[in-house]
Amino acid sequence: MARKFIVGGNWKCNGTAEEVKKIVTMLNEAEVPSEDVVEVVVSPPFVFLTLVKNLLRSDFHVAAQNCWVRKGGAFTGEVSAEMLVNLSIPWVILGHSERRALLNESNEFVGDKVAYALSQGLKVIACVGETLEQRESGSTVAVVAAQTKAIAEKISNWDNVVLAYEPVWAIGTGKVASPAQAQEVHFELRKWLKDNVGAEVAASTRIMYGGSVNGGNCKELASQPDVDGFLVGGASLKPEFIDIIKSAT
Ligand code: G3H
Repeated sequence: MARKFIVGGNWKCNGTAEEVKKIVTMLNEAEVPSEDVVEVVVSPPFVFLTLVKNLLRSDFHVAAQNCWVRKGGAFTGEVSAEMLVNLSIPWVILGHSERRALLNESNEFVGDKVAYALSQGLKVIACVGETLEQRESGSTVAVVAAQTKAIAEKISNWDNVVLAYEPVWAIGTGKVASPAQAQEVHFELRKWLKDNVGAEVAASTRIMYGGSVNGGNCKELASQPDVDGFLVGGASLKPEFIDIIKSAT
């Protein structure tokens, strides 16, 4: 099955209402390939989700950057999957390395979050990736396989899951993975899915690359056979995000 290219913009904890409106205007005015060719998802901070959803062109979609692991309730500061569904937010990013590192989200916790979000009807961008230390010690594939396994153990349907391979050493550092490095890990992730989940899931599940993607390096990365899109941080706040979307063709 052909995998449709997907480009996500993770705005992280950035922006004011005015700045967010400017980015949306830039996106709305952009000429990009059609939705049949590339799926575009932008992920503003929670407080701007509705604002962005209401202003954004209808062929682009919105994602939350996180949601609570189970049904809502007495969990101060959290936002539940049900709330996102209630606001017609279709996507959520889970397991981002910043949350894994800064908020101690374990592989198992991320697996539970993915399963619960899917059970409520959300589509999930599930992030995996190794640290520099792990790469240098030769454990990259073992690390991303363990992160993926923790998700695979909790879910039975991968239709609404996109994996995002984001090497921690490449995030926000300007040190993008080389096309060969990205392809190698994407290939291994797909192989892991084939061996452990099934050939069909392996063939159809999209794997985005994230980590210092910009307008200059996206084209070559996009040409790799197992790179099915990008999860973009810093550059998603800038006009070059449009060039990254266009790298789908
Ligand atoms: O979710 C996005 C990634 O963390 C990549 O961020 O493009 O700023 O390196 P970056």
